[in-house]
This record gives sequence, C-alpha cells and structure tokens, in this order.
Amino acid sequence: MCGIVGYVGNKDCTRVLLDSLSKLEYRGYDSAGIAVFENSKIKISKTKGRLASLEQKLKREGWINGCCGIGHTRWATHGEPSDVNSHPHASARVSIVHNGIIENYQKIKSFLENNGYEFESQTDTETVAKLLDFYFDGDPIKAIRQTISEIEGSYALGIMFSEFPDTIYAVRKDSPLIVGIGENEAFIASDVPAILKYTRNYYLLEHDEIVVLKDGKAGVFDKHGVHIEKELHTADWDMEAAEKGGYAHFMLKEINEQPTAVKTTISPRITDGMPDLSECGMTKERLAGYRSIYVVACGTAMHAGLVGKYVIEQLARVPVTVDVASEFRYRNPILSAEDLVIVVSQSGETADTLEALRLSKRIGAQTLAIVNVKGSSIAREADMVIYTHAGPEISVASTKAYMVQIAVFYLIAFELAYAKEAITEEECRRLTAALNGIPEIISVVLQQAEQCKYIASKLINAGNLLYIGRGLDYALSMEGSLKLKEISYIHSESYAAGELKHGTISLVTNGMPVVAVATQRELFDKTVSNVKEVKARGATVIFVTHAYKTVESDVADFKIALPTVDDILMPIPAVVPLQLIAYYTSVLKGNDVDKPRNLAKSVTVE
Ligand code: AGP
Repeated sequence: MCGIVGYVGNKDCTRVLLDSLSKLEYRGYDSAGIAVFENSKIKISKTKGRLASLEQKLKREGWINGCCGIGHTRWATHGEPSDVNSHPHASARVSIVHNGIIENYQKIKSFLENNGYEFESQTDTETVAKLLDFYFDGDPIKAIRQTISEIEGSYALGIMFSEFPDTIYAVRKDSPLIVGIGENEAFIASDVPAILKYTRNYYLLEHDEIVVLKDGKAGVFDKHGVHIEKELHTADWDMEAAEKGGYAHFMLKEINEQPTAVKTTISPRITDGMPDLSECGMTKERLAGYRSIYVVACGTAMHAGLVGKYVIEQLARVPVTVDVASEFRYRNPILSAEDLVIVVSQSGETADTLEALRLSKRIGAQTLAIVNVKGSSIAREADMVIYTHAGPEISVASTKAYMVQIAVFYLIAFELAYAKEAITEEECRRLTAALNGIPEIISVVLQQAEQCKYIASKLINAGNLLYIGRGLDYALSMEGSLKLKEISYIHSESYAAGELKHGTISLVTNGMPVVAVATQRELFDKTVSNVKEVKARGATVIFVTHAYKTVESDVADFKIALPTVDDILMPIPAVVPLQLIAYYTSVLKGNDVDKPRNLAKSVTVE
C-alpha cells in the first residue's frame, strides 16, 4: 500500500505535503514525490528513497512555492523503487498520485500506446494518468468519470489538471481516502495521521464520489455530478495511535489487515477463475516440467513453506523438500536444472535466504522468489519473483506476510496440480474459487479476538507450552509456537501429535497448556486420541477445530471453533487464533509487542 496526500489552503504547500507524508511512511517508504502548482504551473519533484531524500532534493534543486498540491510515499507493487517509478505520474495535462492496484492496466496501456502515448515507467499508475489525459476535453469531472469506468482494481487517486490551477480532484474505490476539513484549508489523505497536525475533522469518501478541493474548501459530488453533504467525523486518536489505524499495536493492525492482504495478493493472479502466475514468467508447462521442488526460507517464511509442501504434494504429487536457509546453505544440496528452488522472504533481505538463493543459482537450479518488498535483493536476484501485496509489515512478528505467502503457495499448488493433470479443470476452478472466498473466512475468525484474549489470560504464567497437530495442522502448530515464543517470551515447542508418546509426553504435567490443532478431518480422531493422552496427564487443552465438531470435556478445556472450508485451506482460518493468542499473551505480559527483545524485523546478517 502507499500513502497519498493533497492540500489546498494558505500555507506553504510543499511543507504541508512533506509533513503529512511523514505520517504515512508506515504505509510505504521506498520512494516519494510531490506535484505543486507554482504560479499556476504544475511542478513535480520525486525520488527513490525515503521522504528525507525528497526533502533534500527539494532543498538542493529548489523548493516548490505554492498553496495547492499532491504528494505520495510509495510501497512498490508494479515497477521497482526508482526515480522514474515514483509518484506523481503525469501526462502533458494531468498529474496524479495513486494508492492501490490497477488489475487491467496492461490492456489499457496497450490501447494508449496504440493511440500515440509513450510510457516511461513500469507502473500501473502512469496508465491512469495517460487515460485521464486521453479522455480530458476540458471537463475534469467527465474525464475522471470515463477513466474510472474503465479501470479495474483498487485506487485512491489525487489528480491535478494543468488547465485548472490550484484545484485538486480525488476519487477512490477500495483504497482508503479521507477529506480533511480545516480553517480555510482542505486535505485529501490515505489515513487520518496525515491531517492530525492541522485538523481532526474529516469526511469519509465513498466509491463513485468525486471531491474537488479549491480555495481552501472541499466539495463532494455524486456520480451524477450533484453536490452532496457529507457527515463530518472527528478523529479522537493521538498521532502515534493513528499511525496504527486506531489499533494498539502494528501487529494487531496487521492481523486485521489479512483479509485485504490476501485479496490484493491473489486477485491479480486469478484469470477467468483459474490460477494465473504468468506475470512472473511461470507458465503451466514450465511448472509441470520440474522434477522436484525445494522451499528455502527462515522462521515464519519457512513455516509458510511447510504448508506449501503439504498442499503441493497432496494435490500435484510432486516431491517438495523444505529447508531452513541456514541449513540448506551448508548441506551441499543435490540440485539440478530440473529442480525449482522457491525462496520465501517477507523482507527480501534475509541473509541466509539470499545466500541460499545464490547457491541454488550457482548449482544451476531454477529459482522463484515469493517476496513482499518490491525490488529487494532476493526479488532482484531470483530468476522469477511473485510479489505478495501485504503492504509494509511493521511488527517484527510476521502475520499478514505469512498469510499471503501461503495464499501464493495455494495458487502454485493448484496450477501445478492442473498442469500435471493430477486434478481436473473443474477441481482446479473449485479450489481457486474457495481460495478467492477465503478473505471473508478470515474476517469471520477475527471476530473471535475476545475469546483468544481470554485464553491468553490463562497462559501468561505458563512456563512451557506444547503446540501439537498432524499433517497440515503440524505445520501450523510450528507457526503458532514461534509466534508465542517470539513475543511473549514463554517457551513452547511444536510437536507432531502422533510422536508425543515417543518421549516428549514426559514433559506433560498438571496444568501444562497444550494447544491442539485438529482441522484435517481424516486425522481428527487420531489427534483426539493424542489429546486425550495429554489431557489424562493433567494438561490444559486449547482445541482448535471446526465449529461443527463436538469436543468432549475429556478432550479440551477450551475450544476455538473455526468456519469450515476445504481441509486443504484450513491453515488460513486456523492460524488466526494462534496469532491472536500470541498477541494477547504478549500484551497481557506487558511486553513490547511490535519490537520484542533480541529480534529485528529483517535479519540481514548470518
Ligand atoms: C517471524 O515472526 C519472525 N519475525 C522471523 O522468523 C521471520 O519470519 C524470519 O526472520 C524471516 O524473515 P523474512 O521473511 O523477511 O525473510
């Protein structure tokens, strides 16, 4: 996601835009830019790098003096972080800033190129600027209406037309946008923090509404061009809270962003109801040609790989080996050009994963990166890259990045299984549709936050915990255990439920919490048997399973009831309570949830 702002009023617009953007850098910070009317002419300054780089550039090359302008801080989705890909993007007569993803930009770009337009960037946004120019015949509102009737995807747009000085237009669909109302000044912004220094009053803009900022005022018009009165909201957040969108911590915000993160990640990769990874160069034929697949990553990213392993092997019957990168690098892996190595990394900068990628390339294997940060080292060096679109993940404990990583693995598994003719087209469509509906399922599970908080209150004095499961549930228990350890500092261990009786069950004492994950229905009864073994020895059992499943008192002390989807997709709803339990345990222990001790968000050293 990115941050956009706009300002009309009597202040130094460049100063206001920079200050406002600084409050949105949590939304993206790989490049920044502004466009300001100076003496009725639009002047643009933009650069790769943080906002500070833009301010230095303005001071070095000349401040832009005016009272009306738009600004942008970027989280790259299309086109690597660079000067040319940074916003604002412009045509001869239009300058815009954009937050969102235009899913049909390639088709529109081809149309515009055939009509004489030339492009300088790799972004989807530049296409919108040129389409607005194409439709502009002197009426900005009409050009905007025609443009938004053609573009598909999500957008919040700040727009300026060179023939309409000191005026800003804005429109949105799916991406957030507010309209700040001050004393003889008005704003547009992606989020409340951007305006709090100047005003707490704002409108919420709805899809299809167009706002016009001019002479310090904001007018909102419906799709028929009729002026409409908007309800005035007043922010009661302080600045820091506002950057977290009103959530107490970035981690909780990011857990709650998971439905949107998954939707934004998978939507552009589903074409006519089927998985479509062609954008990264991965064709069905290429995918079907691999002898085996290796997944290499660290920490939570490796746990996402474990889910990928189970799903790919179950559906496509292609062998998948999962390694932690720090081990893979030194075990002299047996790879060939017929193998695919998938490296997974939120940051794209983890040293062990980067070196594992380089080793794989030296050996001659094909490499595919699943990365959240555009233009990161791993993304640049892999043969192919699939970007997740989770937006910046600020909290050290990874949640939404994990969720979108497994979502990508599902798409890979479905496409590979179909390519291998291991599943029919009908089955592939059914699974893809089920995945497409998963954001709503996550939203349902998020409503169990209070129960998770209550369960967390029972864990805060625990010395040790076990997380157990079978199959996909075992992969999930690893992620649940890591989440708890890294932010609550309570030791826990994930264990294959069927393996407990071979030694580890000796650890179980009276009152020891055990989190049992049982979503795989063919393994349900066996997991219940294992849970009864620990319950019989005094464990306090937290049982995570389907809502419809009856759980007797000799099995569980607490039941977390999940909505039912295909077993193969159950890791998605099942991981959410594990994230929330870890989060609330950390909060109740008074820990620094977003910055836990000893950890860093990206481990760029060995
Ligand atoms: C996850 O909660 C941890 N912060 C950590 O395990 C992380 O997943 C690991 O360091 C890998 O980071 P990456 O995804 O940026 O490569």
